Amino acid sequence: MKSKKFFKGKSAVITGAASGIGREFALNLAKYGCNLVISDINMEKLELLRKELEEFPIKVISVNCDVTKNSQVRNLAKISIKELGEIYFLFSNAGIATGGPFEDITQAQWEKTINVNLFGMYYVVKAFISKFLEQKFGHIIVTASIAGSLGVGGLNPYNTSKFANAGFCESLYSEYSHRGIDVSVICPFPIRTNLIDSVGFGISPEKLEGINADDMQEALKIGKSHYWEEFTKKQGLSHGFAGGFPVERAVKRFIKKIKKKKLYIFERRYGRAMQFLRGFIPGLYRKILISFGKRHLKLLNEATEKALEFAKKQ
Ligand SMILES: NC(=O)c1ccc[n+]([C@@H]2O[C@H](COP(=O)([O-])OP(=O)(O)OC[C@H]3O[C@@H](n4cnc5c(N)ncnc54)[C@H](O)[C@@H]3O)[C@@H](O)[C@H]2O)c1
Repeated sequence: MKSKKFFKGKSAVITGAASGIGREFALNLAKYGCNLVISDINMEKLELLRKELEEFPIKVISVNCDVTKNSQVRNLAKISIKELGEIYFLFSNAGIATGGPFEDITQAQWEKTINVNLFGMYYVVKAFISKFLEQKFGHIIVTASIAGSLGVGGLNPYNTSKFANAGFCESLYSEYSHRGIDVSVICPFPIRTNLIDSVGFGISPEKLEGINADDMQEALKIGKSHYWEEFTKKQGLSHGFAGGFPVERAVKRFIKKIKKKKLYIFERRYGRAMQFLRGFIPGLYRKILISFGKRHLKLLNEATEKALEFAKKQ
């Protein structure tokens, strides 16, 4: 069925809609005639998006919602149900990332990643599930990551939260899909969005000795930009991180698979290949984990060194 026919007159709620993947979902669904509640913590960007969506003949409501605050998420559900009535699609998409050697990632960074990516998703789905059960239909779509399917050294809290996203979705799928409520988990490889803006970097305290905190904040921007450029580069699995797929094309592919009610959604077959290797060729899979981890930690180290070099010059 054509997307316009499929989505027209239906409704969707999207968290983390102000930027990147969430924003692209909002733009596409609006184009297909789907009414929307868009939410984020970045109200400036969210309002820009709302204005952009005004050109479509749909209902659009913007809601300020931090997914780590259960009361704000419950308020999002209340407004969405009041404004949209029946909810067809729930996109739990808001997320942040944290990179660094495990020993250098602070407990605060670890907990923040888990709070946004895991508890945020839990609060969102929990707030809407009674509505879905009452309606006897609905589709829960969680943006996890390929890092929810493949462990990568230097991404420990992110991996932990994203594997949890996938486990959560499998469990819900097993519980609800035969009762009319669909569940999908989206697992993108690196895509050049604004995710880097909220990325936490774990750096050992010894390396930071004698460096002014403000100088380091500035320096980190340089380190992060090097990291993101390389991490999201268009490269295969043998040298890079299989990133570089444009967000516009990726989201179009996700939408096709959402329509087919797929449980796991990847933008390319690489994702499925990884799942196959883990199950059937575990020796090769272990080699890939080690190679990816070494490559990723090397890149993180390069980014940190660039930042420290800049900070020391200030
Ligand atoms: N970009 C990638 O390479 C990539 C790859 C795999 C998975 N993902 C996942 O995709 C999702 C969307 O990320 P993106 O790449 O579009 O990044 P992005 O930073 O462009 O968009 C994320 C949005 O989430 C919002 N957000 C952050 N914390 C929030 C909170 N506590 N409450 C509400 N909103 C919050 C941000 O303000 C931002 O608008 C995330 O879950 C991310 O982990 C991204």
